[in-house]
Amino acid sequence: MQAWKDYQAQNKDRFLDELLDLLRIPSVSADSKYKGDVARCADAVKEHMLKAGCDKAEVCPTAGHPIVYGEKMIDPKLPTVLVYGHYDVQPADPLNLWTSGPFEPVIKDGKIYARGACDDKGQMFMHIKALEVMAKTNSLPCNIKVMIEGEEEVGSTNLGIFLENNKEKLKADVVLISDTSMISMENPSIESGLRGLAYMEVEVTGPNRDLHSGVYGGAVANPITILCKMIASLHDENNHITIPAFYDKVEEMSDADRKALNSAPFNLDEYKKELGVSEVWGEKGFTTLERTGIRPTLEVNGIWGGYIGEGAKTVLPSKANAKISMRLVPNQSSDEISNIFADHFNKIAPAGVTVKVTAHHGGEAVVTPTNSPAYKAAAKAIETTFGKEPIPTRGGGSIPIVALFEKTLGLKTVLLGFGLDNDNIHSPNEKYDVFNYYKGIETIPYFHKFFTESFGK
Ligand code: BES
Ligand code: MN
Ligand code: MN
Repeated sequence: MQAWKDYQAQNKDRFLDELLDLLRIPSVSADSKYKGDVARCADAVKEHMLKAGCDKAEVCPTAGHPIVYGEKMIDPKLPTVLVYGHYDVQPADPLNLWTSGPFEPVIKDGKIYARGACDDKGQMFMHIKALEVMAKTNSLPCNIKVMIEGEEEVGSTNLGIFLENNKEKLKADVVLISDTSMISMENPSIESGLRGLAYMEVEVTGPNRDLHSGVYGGAVANPITILCKMIASLHDENNHITIPAFYDKVEEMSDADRKALNSAPFNLDEYKKELGVSEVWGEKGFTTLERTGIRPTLEVNGIWGGYIGEGAKTVLPSKANAKISMRLVPNQSSDEISNIFADHFNKIAPAGVTVKVTAHHGGEAVVTPTNSPAYKAAAKAIETTFGKEPIPTRGGGSIPIVALFEKTLGLKTVLLGFGLDNDNIHSPNEKYDVFNYYKGIETIPYFHKFFTESFGK
């Protein structure tokens, strides 16, 4: 479509400047200190929706951070695409490892550096700009609803409630999301699944107060030592997870599907080199692509306790804590896994300590079909703008609301992501290639066009 190309070319610089402005707002959902900034970001997103050509846009308050909803309805007989994304970002720390301010975006070597550049402001904003391209050239193929939330990074609890209460408003034919990654620009791909999540916090308590480690050490259990042993016991010598019944519901992939998964371009040496590790690690009997795509895992996200200030303090601490998360695959239930984790963790605690386990947010895994009209429209859109058919892959990350789009709204999702695995999302120096940003804006209108053309066929 020449009109789309021309409009994008003429407005290219502004499209980038507007994204940079959005990245300057520190919309960190996890930290209440940024509540005002999160609200300011929601307002900015709403204004952008209106400017792009939405008939209406609103900031919908929730018990937490607001949801921004906008729509452009052109004809009730045409299909409706519900675009989802998030404007909230992860905390930026550790700050000292950033080479420029996380909320002072800079462009270096064709890459935008800022918290949220890729996850997900850069990617969700492509949809608002793509909508503008289509609306301003009077070439919108279908109805579009856009829902951008502010709590994805903290579990989307209030969005789950919003779906329940707004089924009519959110009526659509498919959900379209750009919040995942591709193999590379040379090897475009589409993630056809997301893992689920169960996130736990544990606390091990020994003596009723911190003790002198010389007076009492050796005679009373040290909760840090005990916690480390308990955590270490959660994997066996083959790096299988040892929690009883953990794998019971895991669906084994057929040999043919495993073969297809492993045929995706992947260079183990480059992978190791890029991460600065001399060897990979993981569940015996599975490749790296399988370990991150189709197998459940258990990770310690943080561990603390005792004295960590300057110098040395001889102390036998009263408590030790850790945050532990498990990535889940289809058929595993987040609640069920949280429960069996809690049972197991309580059971392996030795006498002399007490254990408290609490569950944080979770979410279910999803598989998105690769034979649906929507997936095919996405594949054709990528083929049109990349000149290459995309490879279906399995992503390792989680977007908890996707399972609820299906359960609550009966909608399937297409994951049309343009990030790269090394975009440093959730890490210092998060980046998004300017090329990917423009490529996304160029590709998205074709999804709407091809989806509409295939609709009802
Ligand atoms: N966009 C990511 C998920 C993602 C990243 C999927 C890369 C596939 C490839 C999302 O913002 C995210 O970080 N989700 C969290 C879960 C949430 C409950 C905090 C995650 O995966 O840890
Ligand atoms: Mn995201
Ligand atoms: Mn994220």
